[in-house]
Order: sequence, then C-alpha cells, then structure tokens
Amino acid sequence: MIDIREIIIMPEKQQLPLNILRARGETRVFLEIGFGNGEFLVHLARQNPDAVFWGVEMSRSCVLRALKRIRREELRNIFLLCGDARFILKECLPKESLDGIYMNFPCPWPKKKHTKRRVSSGDFPSEIASVLKKGAFFELVTDEEWYGMEVRNVLAAHPLLELTEWKINPPRPVTTKYERKWMEMGKRIFLSRLQKKEAESSVGYRCLGRTEDVHIRVPGKGSLKKFVNDIHNMGGEKGDALWVYKRFYESAEGSAYIIETVAGDGSFEQKFFIQIVEREEDALIKIAPYSSPFLTDSVRGALEGMAHLIETHYLSIVSSCAASLEQPAGKAFSQ
Ligand SMILES: C[S@@+](CC[C@H](N)C(=O)[O-])C[C@H]1O[C@@H](n2cnc3c(N)ncnc32)[C@H](O)[C@@H]1O
Repeated sequence: MIDIREIIIMPEKQQLPLNILRARGETRVFLEIGFGNGEFLVHLARQNPDAVFWGVEMSRSCVLRALKRIRREELRNIFLLCGDARFILKECLPKESLDGIYMNFPCPWPKKKHTKRRVSSGDFPSEIASVLKKGAFFELVTDEEWYGMEVRNVLAAHPLLELTEWKINPPRPVTTKYERKWMEMGKRIFLSRLQKKEAESSVGYRCLGRTEDVHIRVPGKGSLKKFVNDIHNMGGEKGDALWVYKRFYESAEGSAYIIETVAGDGSFEQKFFIQIVEREEDALIKIAPYSSPFLTDSVRGALEGMAHLIETHYLSIVSSCAASLEQPAGKAFSQ
C-alpha cells in the first residue's frame, strides 16, 4: 500500500516552489485543476506511466476520494494538492514547468458577485500562461456555452497564449462524473484548448510572500488578556477578503496568546493561528510558527486588523509611532 504522504503533498511543509518532477528526471508533467473524484487524473496516469500528474482540488472530501482510487490502483505518478488553484499555481509551481493543464467542468460561477472566481478573471489567465512550458496546452471543458466562450476569448487574448481548438461535443478519452451528468441531461459539451506560444523572459516563481516574514509591532502596553477575550468572533473585511477571530489560548507564563483565526478570499478559506507576544515596550503580532496559511489578502487583513484593534483599544501608547510592519513593509490597515 502506498503511503498517503507520498501522494498528498502539503506545500506548507515543503520547500517552494515544489519539485514537480518528483525525482523522475526529464519527464512530462501535467496538472488537473478541480479533479473531483479523480477518475480523469487516474485514467491519464494509468495510460502514461512515464509522465507525472498533479491534481489540485479545493474540496478535502474530493482529495480523499481520489486518494482511495490512486491507492487502489497502486499508481505512483500522481500527486495531490489540497487548496485553491488560484493560490497554488502562484505559490507552489515554478514558471514554465508544466506540459499541460486540464480543467474539467469547473463551476462557471454565474453570479456577478462571484465572477472573480472564474478562470477567465483577474490574474488567473496569466498564472496559467506562466506555469506552462513553451508549446504546452491548457484545456477546459464545460457544459455552459457562455462560459466556454468567455474562457476561450479571454485566454486567447493573452499575449502568451493562442487558441488551437474549439470543439462542441468532442470525443474524450474518459468521461468525468459531471460530464456524464450533463450528457444524460442532453447538454452539449464545449472544449477549448490553448497553447503557449513563446517562453517568458524570466523564470522563477511569483509567491504571495512568506507568512513567517510578516511581523507587526504595536508600541505600548496594556491588558492583552482582556483584549483577546473581547475580540472573540470579531473580524473585518476588505473587498473579497474577510476574517474572524475565534478562540484564544494563553501561554503558561501569560505573555503570549494564540488566536484561532478563520480567513476567506472568495471561496478559499484558511484556518490558522495568530500569535501575540507581549514584550517590554510593544506587542508583536505574527502567524504562529506551526500554522502556515498562504499570505492572501484576508490573512494580511487579519494580521493588520489585529494590530489596529490592539492599538486602538488596549494599548496605552508609549511611543508616538503607529503600528508598523517590521518586515516586509506592508499596507496600512483600513476598515
Ligand atoms: C463541478 S466539479 C467538477 C469535478 C470534476 N472535474 C468532474 O468533471 O467531475 C468542480 C470541482 O472543482 C473544484 N474547484 C473549484 N474551484 C477550484 C479552485 N479554485 N481550485 C481547486 N479546485 C477547485 C471543486 O471543489 C469541484 O470539485
């Protein structure tokens, strides 16, 4: 039986960007975004034992379902990442590293307030273009014609990508659970395939920043115990990002507090712990070392929001400075 640690890769415990070749030398590497129950990924991996297949999926239950399938088939060329592809591509994968990306029946996010979650939105097209090698492809199938056309048109307009196929009801090597569902309902399937035209001028990766680098110092002294007690269920929001402070834990000597925090960026939620350390003349706020969320807007917001609350409610300021980000310089918090 294959060890699950060989299949589910935890980016927070790995050196980033990930070694996506997984010690197979010069091999082809593919990614499926939103693999659901994993049957498409497993089919590809079975058919192409010399290639490596990565899957990224936001739903933990899907990751576990796919894991069962992979172990049953004893496949050693599949690796799974649990998280939001919008962040995983940016954080974990080197530029110019993939031979192909598949996306089967992604949610089309039809509501206006959810448009940011579409593949066609924000910097997702650039992230896709960035991680593909020259000549590599991005393929998306959907049952929604308007979404297929939107993805096709937006990605085809990207300077590094060109449209190579647009097909209705294409022949497919294997059907997915959602595909069968839509076909049984008599729906049509729309496929777009794009190719990366040229290599980018620079290589490397484009991470959001490391949480361990962000320390916020709030000068002053006050009752932090009362503070952490009072902020239970408080939080804030900024655009698509929102965060809530939950339970707190106190260190034995009472000079440090750990606050469980839940933060979301659109549909991507993370739970982590913020640590506040009381020092001689200030309080230091940082992400507790054993929790490693991606440094998204909501995680930054939670840290900066905490600093703002401490500063305005609980510290008698001993210095005239406002809360300052020690390193790297960060944005001022606004509500
Ligand atoms: C409609 S299902 C399709 C599942 C599978 N591809 C199929 O065809 O049966 C869409 C899947 O994409 C996943 N998903 C949606 N947005 C995602 C994102 N940003 N990153 C990773 N997975 C995502 C969802 O959790 C869900 O499992």
